[in-house]
Amino acid sequence: MALGWISPEDYSFNTFLLLERFAISRIINSSGFHNDEAIWRYSMGIALNANPVVMWYLKHRCPECAALLDELAANAPTLTDATAIRKAEEYALLGVEDHALYTTPELMADKGDFIRGWTQERLFDLADFTGKIVLDVAAGSGRLTFAAAEKAAWVYASEPAGTLREFMRDKIARESIKNVRVLDGFALELPFPDGTFDIVMSDHFCGGDYDEETAELSRVCKSGGWLLHCPGDAKYNYKLDNEKVVRGWEAVQYVGSYGKDVYCYRKQVKK
Ligand SMILES: C[S@@+](CC[C@H](N)C(=O)[O-])C[C@H]1O[C@@H](n2cnc3c(N)ncnc32)[C@H](O)[C@@H]1O
Repeated sequence: MALGWISPEDYSFNTFLLLERFAISRIINSSGFHNDEAIWRYSMGIALNANPVVMWYLKHRCPECAALLDELAANAPTLTDATAIRKAEEYALLGVEDHALYTTPELMADKGDFIRGWTQERLFDLADFTGKIVLDVAAGSGRLTFAAAEKAAWVYASEPAGTLREFMRDKIARESIKNVRVLDGFALELPFPDGTFDIVMSDHFCGGDYDEETAELSRVCKSGGWLLHCPGDAKYNYKLDNEKVVRGWEAVQYVGSYGKDVYCYRKQVKK
């Protein structure tokens, strides 16, 4: 099912040239996230055959995907009709719309419904940020990072997509923000020693296992510090996340900007 985060006609197939290895691997191994798998594979094959430079880039940037990429190309025709090729490219892009949106960070607040309607008071209701050392995991375009920076002593934004890291760094330079640092990092391998932060926040990243994630977020948090999960007001958050509740996260309910109950979560770290 499409997320509705991008209008594929607005994106060149060259968008794939902006993706990192982790994103390419995820896309190629899952055959596109949200669409019909068989149609996505066929469309991607047509698009790759029509875009040899993109094919070369994907195979070299993500060598472990090379065989799967060859297979996609081999199982699809080489078309010459520009309209048919563009249709295939747009279907391929729609299947990777989250990663495509991350290449246009300036559109995330408008197009990503996980962000729309959110206000920073939600975050400040969860913990006292004053003078704290904070980590934002999977920081994206910095929604939580820049809100926290208004009160915290320091905020570190860890984010694996280069386009998003650059977006945050550009904002820091433009606005002369002094207390935010941006760096690369995956949620399950955070690039920090144990017990570094007073607050570790995260939201809307494609993690895998709840226990592994909570363990890694807790590892970098000080004893007595807080883990926060502060999503936007979108439909994904209307249902209580019992997986979090059974693991000791407190659910904090509020009426979101679309008039629906939405849940944030917090958990105090005890070591
Ligand atoms: C939907 S965005 C959410 C951004 C931000 N947390 C927010 O809520 O505004 C998901 C983010 O997770 C990042 N991401 C994807 N896989 C990740 C992983 N394994 N570890 C850390 N971040 C990841 C993506 O690059 C993207 O920035």
